[in-house]
Amino acid sequence: MPSTLPEGDPAPPDGRLPEDALATLPERPFGVYVHVPFCSVRCGYCDFNTYTLTELGADGASVATYADAALRELDLAATVLGPALPKVQTVFVGGGTPTMLAAADLVRVLRGIRDVFGLADDAEVTTEANPDSVTPEGLQALAEGGFTRVSVGMQSAVPHVLRVLERTHDPDNVGRAVEAARAAGLQVSLDLIYGTPGESEQDWLASLEAAVSLAPDHISAYALVVEEGTKLAAQVRRGQVPAPEDDDEAAKYELADDVLGGAGYGWYEVSNWALREEARCRHNVGYWSDGNWWGVGPGAHSHVGGVRWWNVKHPNAYAGRLASRVSPAQGRETLTADQRYDERVLLGVRLVDGLPVGDLREDGRRSVAGLVADGLVDGAAAVRRRRVVLTRTGRLLADTVVRRLLGLR
Ligand SMILES: C[S@@+](CC[C@H](N)C(=O)[O-])C[C@H]1O[C@@H](n2cnc3c(N)ncnc32)[C@H](O)[C@@H]1O
Ligand code: SF4
Repeated sequence: MPSTLPEGDPAPPDGRLPEDALATLPERPFGVYVHVPFCSVRCGYCDFNTYTLTELGADGASVATYADAALRELDLAATVLGPALPKVQTVFVGGGTPTMLAAADLVRVLRGIRDVFGLADDAEVTTEANPDSVTPEGLQALAEGGFTRVSVGMQSAVPHVLRVLERTHDPDNVGRAVEAARAAGLQVSLDLIYGTPGESEQDWLASLEAAVSLAPDHISAYALVVEEGTKLAAQVRRGQVPAPEDDDEAAKYELADDVLGGAGYGWYEVSNWALREEARCRHNVGYWSDGNWWGVGPGAHSHVGGVRWWNVKHPNAYAGRLASRVSPAQGRETLTADQRYDERVLLGVRLVDGLPVGDLREDGRRSVAGLVADGLVDGAAAVRRRRVVLTRTGRLLADTVVRRLLGLR
């Protein structure tokens, strides 16, 4: 969730939703995202909506009071969603650095979600964590409080790469965090980044092998994006570090797929691999499959039945609104049929099961044969299963495939 908010229309002060959007609640999986906007330091490449404690100042939102603000937003959610409140299937606490909050506060927020919505018996409950901000006791407390999964920001195993990213963690702490999470009974995911300036293919291979040697249940690997306004973007602009290169990133994606595939991890979304089908991140699959979700926290986005809204960005404004019993939603938009179609294509085609050919509009259906001929879409899946599934080359060029399916060229 990069930190720039869309324009949209003003959101109503009570957050009320149209009846036709509410009517979709019983039909779709429902998730809750909780954004924790604090980090001990900001990494030079990161554009997420997060703040160091010095940036927030003494009188603003704080780590100590954050859980109370989040619980107030959950009360508001109960009023807005009304009697059709669905049971929550997935919870994802992301950031920022959620593990800067005390484990007891994260568990308190989860209890709030359970009290307000009810939590499915087999709910997936994830928190993101930085390797240096977890302890065995904290992870144990999270597991006892109902968390089922932890996603650790490993990024790289190579010290000089971590230095360019300005990651402050000790690489050895990734292994310690994974061991402690597993001992607590939590599933583990690792996040990796490739394409960092100065990262050789050998470095990337070392990171992949280090990740695989820890045997996590799930691995995400993202190409480094140079986000406008970050310190990294300024360094690239001044020529202090080279920009990531497409060919280098493509070669590293293929290496990732080879190493992860060879170790038994199957891709199920262009940037995500899981050791077993049950280890796929159900919360993210909900985002990619037109699910409904409520996003709690500053700058968090929500979606119910084609209505999308987003909260005020700054934690102080967020806490202030909730203290005055005003919805923190700043803007909203109701997606048109065309926008929903575009999103379905954009997100659905990135999944391993792809898109039913029959869901495409006429021009999209007509483009499939050409995409197969160009080696971007799997011909057998298109003919036998009538689905548009990306080949590996297609995964590298997913944006091109989407443009062609949408007739944009
Ligand atoms: C925003 S972080 C939050 C969790 C935690 N603070 C961490 O750093 O792992 C979630 C993931 O987004 C990745 N990320 C942030 N900025 C990125 C960028 N510019 N390019 C690629 N990945 C990025 C992070 O490295 C991390 O794995
Ligand atoms: S720790 Fe994570 S959220 Fe915080 S600045 Fe770094 S990448 Fe962004």
